[in-house]
Amino acid sequence: MQHEEGMSIVVVGASGDLARKKIFPALFSLYCQGCLPERFQIFGFARSRFDHAEFRQRIMEHLTCRYAPGESCAARMEEFLARCFYMAGGYDSTDALLDLFVLMREQEGGGRADRFYYLAIPPSIFLDVARSIGNAGLVSCGVERPWSRVVLEKPFGHDRASSDMLAEAMADVFVEPQTYRIDHYLGKEVIQNLMVLRFANLVFEPVWNRRYIRNVKILWKENLSTEGRGGYFDQYGIIRDVCQNHLLQILSLVAMEPPGRFNAASIALEKVNVLRGVPPLTLDDVVLGQYVAGEHAGRRWAAYTDDPTVPDDSRTPTYAAARLAIDNDRWRGVPILIEAGKGLDARMTEIRVQFRDVPQDLFPDANGSPAANELVIRVQPDESIQLSIVNKVPGMGMKMANRNLDLRYKAAFSEQIPDAYESLLLDVMRGDRSLFIHREELQAAWDIFTPLLHEIDARRVVPQSYPFGASRPTAAEKLVP
Ligand code: BG6
Repeated sequence: MQHEEGMSIVVVGASGDLARKKIFPALFSLYCQGCLPERFQIFGFARSRFDHAEFRQRIMEHLTCRYAPGESCAARMEEFLARCFYMAGGYDSTDALLDLFVLMREQEGGGRADRFYYLAIPPSIFLDVARSIGNAGLVSCGVERPWSRVVLEKPFGHDRASSDMLAEAMADVFVEPQTYRIDHYLGKEVIQNLMVLRFANLVFEPVWNRRYIRNVKILWKENLSTEGRGGYFDQYGIIRDVCQNHLLQILSLVAMEPPGRFNAASIALEKVNVLRGVPPLTLDDVVLGQYVAGEHAGRRWAAYTDDPTVPDDSRTPTYAAARLAIDNDRWRGVPILIEAGKGLDARMTEIRVQFRDVPQDLFPDANGSPAANELVIRVQPDESIQLSIVNKVPGMGMKMANRNLDLRYKAAFSEQIPDAYESLLLDVMRGDRSLFIHREELQAAWDIFTPLLHEIDARRVVPQSYPFGASRPTAAEKLVP
């Protein structure tokens, strides 16, 4: 990577799962691809006491050799790990961060260095950490070089008001252009392709509106339990964990107008416009569920409330489906379903765009009952884009049936699909905020869900039970367009 300054990457919360399973492996992959600057160093910061060697050992366990196959991998790992350092300290301790500063200066060799801080910690301590970093003098002002940037992981608040408070307080240390709010779904390959698919192909845009589209579904399923994260999950629930962020981000890319230019500001503007066009949801628009024990994939799964970190009487939804609308000329009247659930029958994220029937039936006497066209964009697993079209079945007479035009990434591309974190971390280094959540987007996304979330709390709404492994709670069927 062309980069004259040195670069220090500070991972706060370095002993946690996110750091070990996602961030360090992504940094290693970038290193193997030659995407890190010549002079880089990585600093882990967390409360647990390790020395540098123990820290490196912990990181190493999750590094993979995807980009450095064969014998070179061990050597690449050794070089990479030699650039990784660790400092233990309390998250609100300016002194500990001053010690980190000394270590960073030592390793930076006295030269100028850009710095980015990845806060891989619970949001409840974002502010403490940011203030300590600021007090320790570790943030250079403005966005000029050498720059300082901060990377944050959702959830950004609990609702609109708490999110605004957090954003305002964080802005005392890092101004908006220095702030990179990650939604890792935006780093996924198929999601990054959405704008290309829509705007670099002539065939979609003319029919991408209420005249031709009957409905849109954005479906997200996991066949996993909350797996040791019950304590965190129970405070947030599926709406805050997945719908308010991942699904609305996907929706904004599916529904946006073409941006004036392909840059962060133009893209954010169009995404905000879509979100602002979605009327806030009410209880009538949603179905909430919570999984109970069930059989799936040959084993028995416990109920959500059996998780020892979840209260027995928890009303936190592990499933939510919402029927929403977009009040603009392109989408008025088109039902949009978003659905997210844990403890369901598969792990899958899909966007389904169903088109209307052709206006005139030229083949009334044909056999078969073909369905209208549907475009299915499979985000994961097995990334693909499929368009269901109506065909004449080969043979005598006129029989019609649907078949797929089928683009499967694995067959169509020999390139590797990078992990979302690899793309996003590289963008932070390049200063490209196109795939990050801007403050207005965050506000607009909270505005859609905040009244509903307050209503759920005020009315103590009890979610519908569904057995682990179900396709969806039965009550949700009524929402599916
Ligand atoms: C996270 C959610 O943002 O995304 C988790 O907090 C969820 O609950 C995860 O499991 C899913 O990410 P992926 O990339 O595995 O689909």
